Amino acid sequence: MVEYDPFSEEVMRDPGPIYKRMRDEAPAYYCEKWDCWALSRFEDIWKASADTKHFTATRGTTSAHLLTKVQPVTPMLNLMDPPEHSKLRSSMRAYFAAPEVAPLEPKIREMARQSLAEARDAGRIDVIGDYSAPIAVTVACTVNGLPVEDGPYLNDLVWRFFARQEGVEGMTEDGLAAFGEMDAYFRKLIAERRKSPGPDSVLQTLLSCEVAGEKLDDAAISSHLAMLIIGGSETFPKTFADIVRRLGEHPEQRAECVADESLLPDAFTEGLRYDMPTQFLCRSVTKEVEFHGKTLTPGQPILFLYPSGNHDEREFDDPERFDIHRKPARILSFGYGAHSCIGINVARLEAKVCLEELLRAAPEYALDLPGVERLVTDFVQGYAKFPVTF
Ligand code: HEM
Repeated sequence: MVEYDPFSEEVMRDPGPIYKRMRDEAPAYYCEKWDCWALSRFEDIWKASADTKHFTATRGTTSAHLLTKVQPVTPMLNLMDPPEHSKLRSSMRAYFAAPEVAPLEPKIREMARQSLAEARDAGRIDVIGDYSAPIAVTVACTVNGLPVEDGPYLNDLVWRFFARQEGVEGMTEDGLAAFGEMDAYFRKLIAERRKSPGPDSVLQTLLSCEVAGEKLDDAAISSHLAMLIIGGSETFPKTFADIVRRLGEHPEQRAECVADESLLPDAFTEGLRYDMPTQFLCRSVTKEVEFHGKTLTPGQPILFLYPSGNHDEREFDDPERFDIHRKPARILSFGYGAHSCIGINVARLEAKVCLEELLRAAPEYALDLPGVERLVTDFVQGYAKFPVTF
């Protein structure tokens, strides 16, 4: 019988083999320790992600909300159900639309070029800390209307929030403290912006919009901003490092991208499929529902194991093959349904420019494996440091 616990050493180090067994042997898996369910097949996750009749996001979506219960559930866009969710999301959508984010391209390119120029003498760059992370947080600050000079500070808070400690299941005390510090920072900024408005941005919209007929208070705005800065600054660098790794391991596919940059969006999609960092997001059951003959009852959390779905042989031909020419009809990496990633155009633009500039400056980079540091975590897996040499 396959055994799965999101916090087990085995799952935090290399979940792939367990996910495969779950897909084959227990596609609706019950984890007694946390009284929760886990879905591992693509089609099940896809359908359940769009099902607001049986599932709610309002009780939390992370292990810290629903399993260890150390993180309080606060108002956040991703923790709302329709119709309130749809209303708030539509008031923000314009800021994330492709034409709206396109003007960010020169700034991203300038930052990428500068980082690569600074690294040229050393012939080595950490594609997270020295490259994609500062870009992601600067862009997230710009889109959301936060002071870009505070980007490094916010980035540190976000990484503390996600850090894990041996012997502690899930979120640490320091991570919770970082969340508190972020709240204090946002409340101060909100007070300033109430007095003198900033640029047209997500923050300005949050200050004036109404949800369920009422204006948002400072606590709610701060919480929404925390979600937006976390979503915007942390997933992209981890994803980017994974793609740099896979292209480094497949130099023939990398050479194709160097020769033809129009292949880079497909390389990004395949990288996202192959190594999706977010191991799962959760929902809670609101109405009895059946999966594979198992009955899920109201109140129980359910985990959508996205990386498992992205490697499901029922959906993808030879899923363990990294192939930039795959062009999959659908992947789970940006979620699906009402909560699918609002930042998808931002992420795609960042990926395009960061890959173009890295491959132009260092078309034959080598992975500096001894310098690589992998995070051991239940939640957003990936690397803390990923250096390459050139
Ligand atoms: C490669 C980068 C990224 C990946 C893999 C990613 C992944 C995801 C996923 C899987 C969800 C679904 C959450 C759920 O169903 O509960 C999501 C939602 C979200 N993402 Fe992203 N994301 C990325 C980049 C970004 C960026 C750059 C931003 C903002 C600038 C962003 C902002 C958000 C927000 C606000 C939501 C919540 C949407 C809602 O609940 O309506 N993400 N993202």
